[in-house]
Amino acid sequence: MDSKIIIAAFLSSVPVLLLLGATEAHVEYGAYNITCPNAEAIVFQEMTQILATSPDQAGSLLRLHYVDCFVRGCEASILLNSTAGNTAEKDADMNKDVRGYDVIDRIKAKLEQACPGIVSCADIIALAARDSIRLSNGPNIPIGTGRRDGNGSSAADVPLNLPSANSSITQLISFFAKYNLTAKDLVVLSGAHTIGKAHCYSFSDRLYNYNESGNSDPRLDASYKTLLSQECSPNDMTSLVPLDTNNATAFDLGYYAGLTRMKGLLTSDVALLDDATTNSYVMRQANSTSPNEFFADFGTSFMILGKIGALTHSKGEIRRQCSAVNPPSPSPSPSPSPSPPPKNSAEKINAFSSFFSVGVVLSYLLLQYY
Ligand code: HEM
Repeated sequence: MDSKIIIAAFLSSVPVLLLLGATEAHVEYGAYNITCPNAEAIVFQEMTQILATSPDQAGSLLRLHYVDCFVRGCEASILLNSTAGNTAEKDADMNKDVRGYDVIDRIKAKLEQACPGIVSCADIIALAARDSIRLSNGPNIPIGTGRRDGNGSSAADVPLNLPSANSSITQLISFFAKYNLTAKDLVVLSGAHTIGKAHCYSFSDRLYNYNESGNSDPRLDASYKTLLSQECSPNDMTSLVPLDTNNATAFDLGYYAGLTRMKGLLTSDVALLDDATTNSYVMRQANSTSPNEFFADFGTSFMILGKIGALTHSKGEIRRQCSAVNPPSPSPSPSPSPSPPPKNSAEKINAFSSFFSVGVVLSYLLLQYY
């Protein structure tokens, strides 16, 4: 029996070693359970404190996740600062009003104290967005973690990947299709506009110069138009207006109800009425007495959004500071047999568990055979 075990262990190590090279980490539930068990609790605690004093930040953090994922994938490229010779995404015209960077830095600092070098900025954005929804009385969405941070960011990528506030339904559907998101995902995720605010300049053409006509958008309720005109003078560059006129801090069905009453704020919101699939979803939610269907759908689409282009395994890095890529590590001194790059503890545990479990299964099969 002993010799069989030795033979089995020897034979199984060959395919195991081959398999190890192909082992891929994924965005998975509890990716920090071993390496930083309190990671998700720390994010939730910070978000609870932040939103208690600044509830407006919930919308900003949720939007941050969306604009991150649509450009280069969910890998925190939105957080990188511009450098000499490179204008980063955050300085692109379309992103000039993206907010919440200070919140991410605050959470990152807490996580670095608890578990240095373990939790990625991309995961912090995703978890902060998830908690923003929950803390605004929305669903508590179980999301995976294990995303790693990218090392590039370019303002030029933004207009190619993010739809503008003036998009038609055809443009919105085709932007979302690029990420395998359906028309249903579009109408569900647009429901995020149930919280947060928009600057007057994001919709003022609807008040003063719709389609260059010099008039207002006919699809704007008259009393809502009056209200918005009081808030926003034609060249107002600073004022903010709720995206959901019913309640901008509660994650509820008010956004859809507003759309059916011609009280949608952005052209892209109103556009959801122009397609059969998106229109019927808006109508159903607007007339629903329970948010349950919307909450379940939002959870599903939000999880798909959060996996777009995520970097895992050896791709990318865990940034030490969210606003800059890590400095290059010092070049190793020449040696006859160069050692592989050091793995972080999550990767070591992942590799060990793959090695162990595949080895055990193969050994068991071989012993059965002998
Ligand atoms: C369908 C295409 C979309 C367009 C064209 C769009 C456009 C916009 C615009 C123009 C603003 C206002 C920015 C400002 O003036 O400060 C905004 C805000 C916001 N967006 Fe979207 N968005 C879209 C989809 C999404 C998605 C998919 C999400 C999240 C899942 C999202 C979440 C938000 C939130 C929460 C805010 C409020 C931000 C704050 O309060 O700081 N949006 N969006």
